[in-house]
This record gives sequence, structure tokens and C-alpha cells, in this order.
Amino acid sequence: MLIAESLTKEYRSGERTLAVLKNVSFVVQPGEFVAITGPSGSGKTTLLGLLAGLDTPSQGRVILDGAEMSSMSEDDRARIRSAKVGFVFQSFQLISTLTASENVQVPLELRGEAGAERRAADLLERVGLAERSTHFPMQLSGGEQQRVAIARAFSNRPSILFADEPTGNLDAASGERVVALLEELNRESGSTVVIVTHDAVLASRARRQIRLADGAVIEDTGSAGHTV
Ligand SMILES: Nc1ncnc2c1ncn2[C@@H]1O[C@H](COP(=O)(O)OP(=O)(O)O)[C@@H](O)[C@H]1O
Ligand SMILES: [Mg+2]
Repeated sequence: MLIAESLTKEYRSGERTLAVLKNVSFVVQPGEFVAITGPSGSGKTTLLGLLAGLDTPSQGRVILDGAEMSSMSEDDRARIRSAKVGFVFQSFQLISTLTASENVQVPLELRGEAGAERRAADLLERVGLAERSTHFPMQLSGGEQQRVAIARAFSNRPSILFADEPTGNLDAASGERVVALLEELNRESGSTVVIVTHDAVLASRARRQIRLADGAVIEDTGSAGHTV
């Protein structure tokens, strides 16, 4: 489903080069639920951006569902993202002038798909927000906004969903609900899920953990039932 091959990401500032990711490699099988963990600054967000095709590596390759993202143009990567990828940002990033339902419909409208309103209603019901579909983000709690963001990320039926610290801005109870929802959608839709978190409790719920420290993989518990 997803191959990270010797990924390196460097940032240059003046004469100094900062290696943020160093030779990161792993394979994620279809349907897996993986948590990428590590302390703040270890390169988790940078890695997720590379995996989702939001950014390109300095060296190495990302192959998503057979497509080599790392050698594609920005336009081609955007097309693959629209077709295959869902992304949940830590800060939700809902559009404040759109209702919950309209936010969920955005990815479908970008693809010119019919039935967006119906699909949004179904998804909002799935995340427990059927009664909130006409509310604007500022009328929703943080946990509710994050659930709308998850519904939006699932609207295009992604084969793979990425979430960056999906519970980072939530209290324990809302965070728990968001994790349970991601697990349920992973199980029922078969979508592969890759989350980033520095929360050990959340990470322990994932069937597989990939631990980063200082830009390198220091542990990979591997995918159950698959050879790594
Ligand atoms: N655009 C950038 N330019 C320079 N340094 C960056 C940039 N983005 C991230 N970094 C640095 O890369 C390191 C890893 O950042 P990040 O991937 O956000 O880590 P994490 O998500 O694990 O906290 C940090 O030291 C950060 O300052
Ligand atoms: Mg981060």
C-alpha cells in the first residue's frame, strides 16, 4: 500500500544542512493501522507530509498504491491525493464560513462528484454529528470539529488516511472518541490508517508502532501477519 524507501529530508539554512529525516524505510500493508510516534521535533510531521505527497524528500522514494509520488509533479501528486488520500490536520483546518456538511462535501465537489450532500449526511451520522450538519465550526467543540475533519478526510473514500496528532488539541474523553472512530473506520472501510502521535496511550492502541527519534526509525513493531 505504502512504501517509504530510504527517505531523507534536509533543510538548508545558510551553510548548515539540517537532516530532519535520515534514511527512513518501512512498508505499510493495505488495511493496517499504524502509529508513528516520537518526541516533539523528531520529524513526525515532516515524514507524514512526505508519505501523503504534500512534500517531496531530499533523497529516497515514496510509493503510494504503486505510484511513485516522490518523482511526480505537484499537479500529479495533487491528483493522487484527491483520488486516494485523506488527511486530518492537528488543527482541524475546517473552513470557518462553511457548515459542517459543506466542509465534508468540499473534497467531493473538487472531484465533481454527484451526491455530495447525501454522502456528507451519511458521514456526519457515522461520526455522531447528524444533528450538527448545519452548524459552523465555531459553534462546535474541539472534539466535534475534529470529527468533522475526519468525516471530511473520509468523504472521498481514501485508500489511505493520514492523521497528524488527531487528538493533540482534545481533552481525554474527546480524544478517546476520535481514536475509537478512526479504529472503526479503519475496520469497516478497510482504509489503511497512519497516525502520528506523541501520546503513548493513543499509540498503544495501534496494532503497529513505528518509533522515530532524531529523524531515524528506532523501533518498528512490524505488521502482524506480514513479514517486515
Ligand atoms: N520547513 C522547515 N525548515 C527548517 N526546519 C524545519 C522545517 N520543518 C521542520 N523543520 C525542523 O525539523 C524538525 C522536525 O520537525 P517536525 O517534523 O515538525 O517534528 P515533529 O512533528 O516530530 O514534532 C524540527 O527540528 C523542525 O524545527
Ligand atoms: Mg508534528
